[in-house]
Amino acid sequence: MPGMLHQNITGYIRSNPARWHVPAHKGRGEGFVNRAYDITELSFSDNMNYPASVWLQEQRELADIFGTKHTLLSTNGSSAAVIAAMCSLLSEGGQAIVGDNCHISAYYGALHSSGGLVKARSANLYEGPGIKAYKKAYEEAKRPQMALIVSPNYYGISKGLNETISFFHSKGLPVVVDEAHGAHLLFGEGYPKSALELGADIVIHSAFKTINGPTQTAFLHCCTDMADIGALSFWLRSVHTTSPSYALALDALAAAQELKTAQNKLSEIKEWYNYIAGSLEGSHMYMINNEPGSCDYMKLPVSFALTNMPAESASRLLEEKRHIYAEMASGDIALFCAGLNSTRHDYEMLASALSSLKPGARAGALAPGLAAPHAFQAISMREALRREYEYIDISQAHGRISADFLGVYPPGSPIAAPGDILDEGIIGFFGSVPESSRFGAYGASIKVVRN
Ligand SMILES: Cc1ncc(COP(=O)(O)O)c(C=O)c1O
Repeated sequence: MPGMLHQNITGYIRSNPARWHVPAHKGRGEGFVNRAYDITELSFSDNMNYPASVWLQEQRELADIFGTKHTLLSTNGSSAAVIAAMCSLLSEGGQAIVGDNCHISAYYGALHSSGGLVKARSANLYEGPGIKAYKKAYEEAKRPQMALIVSPNYYGISKGLNETISFFHSKGLPVVVDEAHGAHLLFGEGYPKSALELGADIVIHSAFKTINGPTQTAFLHCCTDMADIGALSFWLRSVHTTSPSYALALDALAAAQELKTAQNKLSEIKEWYNYIAGSLEGSHMYMINNEPGSCDYMKLPVSFALTNMPAESASRLLEEKRHIYAEMASGDIALFCAGLNSTRHDYEMLASALSSLKPGARAGALAPGLAAPHAFQAISMREALRREYEYIDISQAHGRISADFLGVYPPGSPIAAPGDILDEGIIGFFGSVPESSRFGAYGASIKVVRN
């Protein structure tokens, strides 16, 4: 008898859902992820962790497709790639300057490398930190050794990347760009420029968030002499399974190959984005990533801020009435993620469903964007993880030191890390997030350092 998970997923598939969430392949087409391709290191298949023959050729092909010096494949996601990149650049006690919208893997990167993080703060979480915030973080850093920038961000916004990379290079720091959501950028016209074109030293691409690879795959690109391929390979191995899946790898390679002829599809996706944006006119709903040049058309973050309908309620209605599943709905945004396998029909269904919501106008003034709570560190992450801990109710947590990460998934950026003080801002923000989207809480209970 299949268990509940199996039944739930089968039921979901049978309902013929519209998948506006990752992975980008939308459950369509055949891949290699079947048992016939699930092999091990054999005389003809090389060893992905220590490549010497065919896998070296595949890596060369990947590097050619993306125009990099070297490209490594991760079958442990962009998470492993971020950790490896940080370990390759940070020495003990060294600091990485990161945006406060960085993924949790950047914190793991700091822990694994025994380094630290200095955060550039966002005034508006939807936009992420700007160049001024990165400059300020650089001024605050005592031993800066690298910068890590997320671009495009989760909401499909990429602003000031060129300027930020140039700033850190002018200070002699290598720059890693977590372009997990932008593997397609290099291949589309009118999309934001890829960090690969802007001189970043290491670039990380997810192979499944916008392009057609399977979940868990990513590319780690080594682009300049400031990145060391020997160190990157070592550290990637250190956080990677010793048995990478050939089936996943084949699908990820196929996804990269497909990019060579993806230009027309990317133009269609841009057109279809504009079609949805146009269809929202006069409805009080609008897309927040609507500035040409900084807008990644793969992401459709629909704002309900001017409406009287919370995004979560809208998303629930779309699921119940239309079988349309958003990637995320929280606060005033419902995020719909397109992918290379999205079709015109998907967009037509989405436009029709959004227009059927007919939300009214919101009464009262609106605070622009989403203000990010700023966490303040009391003790280091490592120190907090070494201390004794206890679980307490969130309502009792004011002034306590967190012993775990607290955040929202997706996108997976912590709002507090081990060692941070839990103040009203953090607790209020965390409490405003639907329970199903939180991480770091077990019901109402969270883990804090014992006093
Ligand atoms: C910006 C960013 N970087 C890295 C990751 C980690 O990717 P993965 O889940 O493939 O490990 C994510 C995941 O959502 C992300 O949004």
